[in-house]
Amino acid sequence: MQVSFNSIAQSYGGQALFKDLDLTLPSGKFFTLLGPSGCGKTTLLRMLGGFVRPDAGRILFGRDDVTNVPVHRRGVGMVFQDYALFPDRSVLANVCYGLDARGVARDEARRRARAILDRVGLADFADRAPAALSGGQRQRVAMARALVIEPKLLLLDEPLSALDVKLRVELRSMIRDLQIEAGITTVFVTHDQEEALAMSDLIAVMNRGNIVQIGAPREIYSRPRTAFAADFVGGANLIPIEQELPSDIGGLRRLRTRAGVIATDSPTPIHSGAQLAVRSEDIRFIDAASAAVGALAGHVEHVEFRGSATGYLVRTDAGIIRVDTQTKQGDQARHRGDAVLLELPRNACIVGAS
Ligand SMILES: Nc1ncnc2c1ncn2[C@@H]1O[C@H](COP(=O)(O)OP(=O)(O)O)[C@@H](O)[C@H]1O
Ligand SMILES: [Mg+2]
Repeated sequence: MQVSFNSIAQSYGGQALFKDLDLTLPSGKFFTLLGPSGCGKTTLLRMLGGFVRPDAGRILFGRDDVTNVPVHRRGVGMVFQDYALFPDRSVLANVCYGLDARGVARDEARRRARAILDRVGLADFADRAPAALSGGQRQRVAMARALVIEPKLLLLDEPLSALDVKLRVELRSMIRDLQIEAGITTVFVTHDQEEALAMSDLIAVMNRGNIVQIGAPREIYSRPRTAFAADFVGGANLIPIEQELPSDIGGLRRLRTRAGVIATDSPTPIHSGAQLAVRSEDIRFIDAASAAVGALAGHVEHVEFRGSATGYLVRTDAGIIRVDTQTKQGDQARHRGDAVLLELPRNACIVGAS
């Protein structure tokens, strides 16, 4: 089911959070709202669930205007960061809850609840109390409870944020697999860019009540449109552009920065405040001998060996630039204080100020 926000406005305490927000989420996709704390993700999700009614504008499920439809008639499943399980009921009773409320016969409800508990790997935990489960297991119960009613829309509000890293990685693939199996339109809220990139069909990057960019994970990562998106998703190096120079290098543009001239194939026009966004893993160390256009000189200020990769902070005239190299046998290690030359990729992206 396709879901849309139409001309949504919402204020709190005289402060406008959304002014005129339009957003369409395609049917059957895993759609992520990604942005820093306070940008309005939860509020949008709660509007879909029916917990918040917008000051103005409409919410559509398919062609149906559901703006004034109450929570229990919307047919949505929700999962929250804090699980929100009933502490005094068994796991099975928690999962049966939505079915009981919808008048499904008791045996049928139990059969369906057991089937979905089996799917999330908790077949043997049906009779336990939530307190006797780990955080990861509780969140599996919450997923089972949301999915057992076969909702038209699944809403997930930072469901992994309370879990430790290993469980987060494990659960995110389980959630994604369940979503693909059920083919259910899903809206996932997170402030964690890695989670968003790993799980989503589409990501909407949000900043202060605005949708900054919508795209597939790879598109957002490799073609960010604004400095905010480039920085928030993947922490790009941002190099201020001083001026575009005439170019005689086939198909490439030449941009003057404080650290030197950089060549790029980015087609984006340059407005005031434009910067070049460069991913740390796309930058290479080169020798003076092989330096072509676009080599920036600097000094290594910090080295961090992380096992599979090494991270460097290099001071240049355009500020600190982060460089990440994959660890390979026989690599020449760079050390703090070394003078180095950096080769920037041709696909560095021109981004706008906001
Ligand atoms: N019920 C409310 N009353 C007052 N302010 C609210 C309420 N709900 C949200 N806000 C404000 O709206 C902004 C966005 O909140 P929220 O949607 O929870 O952001 P996010 O989920 O992205 O962290 C915040 O500044 C928050 O304080
Ligand atoms: Mg939130």
